[in-house]
Amino acid sequence: MITVIGLGPMGQAMVRSFRKAGHEVTVWNRTASRADGLDATVAPTVADALAASELVVLSLTDYKAMYDILGDESIKDKVIVNLSSDTPNKTRAAAQWASERGATMIGGGVMVPAELVGTDKAYVFYSGPEDVVRKFEPELGVIGAVKYVGADPALGQLFYQAQLDIFLTSLAAYMHATALVEAAGVPPTEFLPYAVENFDMMSYYLEDAAKQIEQGRHPGDAANVIMMGATADHIVGASNESSVDSALPYAVKSMYDKAIAKGHGRDSWTSLYEVIRSTGAGRPARGR
Ligand SMILES: NC(=O)c1ccc[n+]([C@@H]2O[C@H](COP(=O)([O-])OP(=O)(O)OC[C@H]3O[C@@H](n4cnc5c(N)ncnc54)[C@H](OP(=O)(O)O)[C@@H]3O)[C@@H](O)[C@H]2O)c1
Repeated sequence: MITVIGLGPMGQAMVRSFRKAGHEVTVWNRTASRADGLDATVAPTVADALAASELVVLSLTDYKAMYDILGDESIKDKVIVNLSSDTPNKTRAAAQWASERGATMIGGGVMVPAELVGTDKAYVFYSGPEDVVRKFEPELGVIGAVKYVGADPALGQLFYQAQLDIFLTSLAAYMHATALVEAAGVPPTEFLPYAVENFDMMSYYLEDAAKQIEQGRHPGDAANVIMMGATADHIVGASNESSVDSALPYAVKSMYDKAIAKGHGRDSWTSLYEVIRSTGAGRPARGR
């Protein structure tokens, strides 16, 4: 038996997946009509939804919605799997809030759009007490592969945000690049195969980059900061010549400028990391 609270596109997709896998599902949603057409038991109240299952999955807009819904309810002995998006600190605070009320909160995030929930492309980050995640892995594994990333309840959220950081920035870069060539009369579909090739090549750079940033060593090579920074400057110039918004390439160029100012000009482009990374203040040790 699983309770799902929150029936936006994501919550609805979860309910369908759980039902397809043969689980009994109880649902509650602020706007009751969003349960229409779902093959699930609709709880008349939040208390009824909580009473139906030990495992309670939340799929809400943010963590504030969790307090709005559960704030006045008893959640003792419940396992609250909150797959709503928010900041890591709000996730940590919510885990503490749940613990003070006798519940366990597992934080996390679903890494695919709603239409891919329950497919072999789907995976979901989770963090919090590992034994609890493993206990419910058979149920949670239905919506996507379970990726447990650590004991700190915020880590699942952080991995989710980090993946979306790559996703959103990359999509914006694709839009910008397309606008740049389109300003010269090139249809987006003509540019598309080259953009795809570029995205496909991207992973080639990551393995060496990860090793270098982990070691804090950035040996100079052909792709050094001065060369890459000059290229970033040319992209800003190309944007300005075409009246294409230059905010994104300008942000990238300013990172290279900072790296040069810090003396990394002849180092590898990976030294950009040294101007981006946290200075270490307030960086907690990772709990697993
Ligand atoms: N959609 C996707 O493809 C996708 C992909 C990955 C991750 N996510 C994440 O998954 C979560 C859910 O996504 P979604 O697309 O289903 O979101 P959504 O359309 O924003 O639906 C959110 C749900 O939260 C409820 N809600 C919001 N504020 C509330 C409040 N103050 N009190 C009570 N209920 C409240 C809504 O209730 P009402 O129906 O009454 O408004 C609705 O059921 C989000 O955090 C999203 O970032 C979504």
